[in-house]
Amino acid sequence: MQVVILDTSEDIGDFAADIILDGVKETGTLKVLGVATGSSPLPVYSALSRRWDPVLSRVTAFALDEYVGLPYSHPESYHAVIDRDVTRPLRLDPARVHVPDGAAADVEAACTDYEEAIRAAGGVDLQILGIGSSGHIGFNEPTSSLSSRTRVKTLTPQTRTDNARFFPSPDDVPLHCITQGLGTIMDARRIVLVAQGKSKADAVARAIEGPLSSMCPGSVLQLHPDVTVLLDPAAASALALTDYYRFVFENRPEWQRRGSTASWAGGTPA
Ligand code: F6R
Repeated sequence: MQVVILDTSEDIGDFAADIILDGVKETGTLKVLGVATGSSPLPVYSALSRRWDPVLSRVTAFALDEYVGLPYSHPESYHAVIDRDVTRPLRLDPARVHVPDGAAADVEAACTDYEEAIRAAGGVDLQILGIGSSGHIGFNEPTSSLSSRTRVKTLTPQTRTDNARFFPSPDDVPLHCITQGLGTIMDARRIVLVAQGKSKADAVARAIEGPLSSMCPGSVLQLHPDVTVLLDPAAASALALTDYYRFVFENRPEWQRRGSTASWAGGTPA
């Protein structure tokens, strides 16, 4: 796992955009992008939009999750959020952008179909993740099976409180969601997790340095061979080995410095 502490959200956005554009344009290894909603990845999307390249319109995208029971037209459905925050600014082809169908009559079938669609697309090449204050990735709340697949979950009161800022009142936050499972997320070939702010410090520390435990679903990333974690200083503030992570980055070997930051972030084994 590579932990990179950067000064600002804009730096995080640019660093992640380097990795993504390198994969899409330079190496051609990134054809399927996993996208997250929420505040954390917004700097990534704005950097990609600012540095837009026509190859982005050939990228296929899969969202991590969706609320159950909100119509697509609801402004806070993840169909609407992905359209607003990702598809339009990145000028992706809407036909290539997939979001779980939380409005389906048969949500369990929608979960199976989603797994199948990811498989049919060849799997996710790079997954962008945020992390919740509960330690969730996707909406895999504490005690989620570490090998779970896409399924319906019940959101914790903490997550509903955290997401209440997007709704008229906390009671309007749906109780249920469809989320890619931890096993589904772990199938991505590469993962870039972004986190900013003090409110994420505890979850970030537990995910990176804590024991592997379903009590902190993000800790499953310790088992993945290619994870880059991009943090601002506040999100990194509860880590024990902050100095070491900075030392590793500052002393990355010369061959890992060539070109963009992407070559470092993509060139080091876990
Ligand atoms: C969103 C998702 C969630 C969020 C997490 C952090 O698709 O899967 O795991 O990444 O809740 O949300 P923000 O970034 O809004 O703090």
